[in-house]
Amino acid sequence: MNLEELRLKCLDCHQCSLGATRTNTVFGVGNPAAEILFVGEGPGEQEDLSGIPFVGKAGQLLDKMLASIDLSRERNVYIANIVKCRPPHNRDPLPEERSACLPFLRLQTLLIHPKIIVCLGKVAATTLIDPEFRIMRAHGVWYERKGFWMTATFHPAALLRNENLKKDAYADLLGLKEKIQQLGVRTDFSLAEG
Ligand code: URA
Repeated sequence: MNLEELRLKCLDCHQCSLGATRTNTVFGVGNPAAEILFVGEGPGEQEDLSGIPFVGKAGQLLDKMLASIDLSRERNVYIANIVKCRPPHNRDPLPEERSACLPFLRLQTLLIHPKIIVCLGKVAATTLIDPEFRIMRAHGVWYERKGFWMTATFHPAALLRNENLKKDAYADLLGLKEKIQQLGVRTDFSLAEG
């Protein structure tokens, strides 16, 4: 199966109840050849309406965060979410919704095969790194899991709520940049390759 076939399969998924309330499934966006995968929580209102991850206010901040270390969704990263459909009223996705949706992210990850996975916020970090993950304590820490280098930083929506966290988030981004250099992760894709 390729990424497009997986996307089409995801589009009409009804494995959990979020399938009944969504406007659009939000599969992912970016360069499928990217070696860096960012994982958020789940679509919000704008994402549900557009079918594209991180296009609302938090998404605009994410794009700025990426740009601060010369990354972009058009060129050298891929962006996905733990759940592909919007939880009503933007509540946290429930454990059964996360587990129903996780096979999509697993396959997406296998097909993209990134070297680095960056969790954006608590939901992604507790789902992908450790159920006990504490973002305040462990943001910016690196873990080597199943052949991937993984880390977590603050969700951009959390940074919009609490500007004081931005300094720490920027330090995490600099840590990411260092890891990219250390591992020789490819970022120099041309726009045409993205
Ligand atoms: N927040 C997320 O976690 N993901 C999105 O796609 C948008 C907002």
